[in-house]
Amino acid sequence: MSDLVARQDEVIAPLFAFETDDEVVGSEGSWVTTAGGRRLLDFTCGIAVSNLGHQPPHVKRAVIDQVNQVWHSGSTFRYASLVDFAENLKQVTPDGIESFMPMNSGAEAVEGSIKLARKTTGRQGIIAFRGGFHGRTMGSVSYTTSKAKYRQGYHPLVGSVFIAPYPWPFRWKMDQESASERALEELDYLLKHEITPGEVAAFLVEPMQGEGGYYPGGNTFLQGLRDRADKHGIMLVMDEVQSGFGRTGDWFTSQVYDIRPDILVMGKGIANGLPLSAFGASKAVMDAWPAGSHGTTFGGNPIACAAAAATIEALHDVVPQVPKLSDHAFGRWNELKEQHRTIGDVRGLGLMIGIELVKDDGHTPDPDAFPSLGKYALDHGMLILPCGPDVNIIRFIPPLNVSTEELDLGIDTLADALAAYEA
Ligand SMILES: Cc1ncc(COP(=O)(O)O)c(C=O)c1O
Repeated sequence: MSDLVARQDEVIAPLFAFETDDEVVGSEGSWVTTAGGRRLLDFTCGIAVSNLGHQPPHVKRAVIDQVNQVWHSGSTFRYASLVDFAENLKQVTPDGIESFMPMNSGAEAVEGSIKLARKTTGRQGIIAFRGGFHGRTMGSVSYTTSKAKYRQGYHPLVGSVFIAPYPWPFRWKMDQESASERALEELDYLLKHEITPGEVAAFLVEPMQGEGGYYPGGNTFLQGLRDRADKHGIMLVMDEVQSGFGRTGDWFTSQVYDIRPDILVMGKGIANGLPLSAFGASKAVMDAWPAGSHGTTFGGNPIACAAAAATIEALHDVVPQVPKLSDHAFGRWNELKEQHRTIGDVRGLGLMIGIELVKDDGHTPDPDAFPSLGKYALDHGMLILPCGPDVNIIRFIPPLNVSTEELDLGIDTLADALAAYEA
């Protein structure tokens, strides 16, 4: 055990699940460098955060400039980076999402969005979707069902939360359309048997499910939610903490599907690694919320906002390139699916790709596959993360400005890992 690991074990709660005990002392672009001098290709992006890679120059400069001006306000005085960030954000968010509340983490932004939906509608019910991940604070974990272990030991959770199915075509052995129709039918049963639509404040949904298994929501399902939201005065809250900022091929997945959220929740890639999140809504909805009804000491920190403003500027050159990289990656993964019996499904959008690893029957999750692949990748100079309730899905999320050579190197490494696992 390294000295750092031993020291950490003495003073840090054992809740972090690190992918490697390697200490990283340097980082640039798609690469990190360990204390031992190894270079690792980082296809984790710190769980879909550093979409521009490590230390993107434009963002780094903005952070340093802001450090030289002011670090913290805590809503005592005004500072430009807060407004710069929100103005830049407004240019890229879906139509109608035009006023923003900055927070610190994804979970906190989810909490804020639900408080806004309850306050605005005067209703209590929240309908979230099975497999969703919305964070681990007491409120957000009440909507999180990607793994039961996140909820284990914490009941009772927040009340009046109902869970409806999310379309999982591969798991249900159906095509996307049939799975969407089944999910919507179940939602209608819920609205008939468990809570009346007039008591529901919000549908809380990831338009592309992340932690729960990298399932794209699809047009039919999301349009079905939009229709029901419009019919019953329910707010459609889209959690794009993981799927936002270019990850799925447009700025937000709601734009990929052209389905309008009432509230948009953002985090992770928003500031390329500085702690910031936000939720946004129409100006009319936000302005009806009295000052002080919600707030935070650190949310909208000047340095994080400067990083976010610069991240969004830099992403303008990068987001249009994502579809081409995505086509290349999907092409290669679909070829590998033909060659490797362990790959049951390749799915996703943009550079948010899930590769589901299965047993020989082509469908049962194989829990041994990812640990073996992840170790092989690490031994051969690459970091990669899994997802899904059975931890059997490769979460393929390279930086959005990855080079084609790096993309191929990462896929080649995982292809070799698959061959070694199957041998
Ligand atoms: C879709 C989604 N929502 C919310 C969260 C919670 O974000 P945070 O870990 O910053 O609280 C995550 C984190 O993975 C997420 O993927």
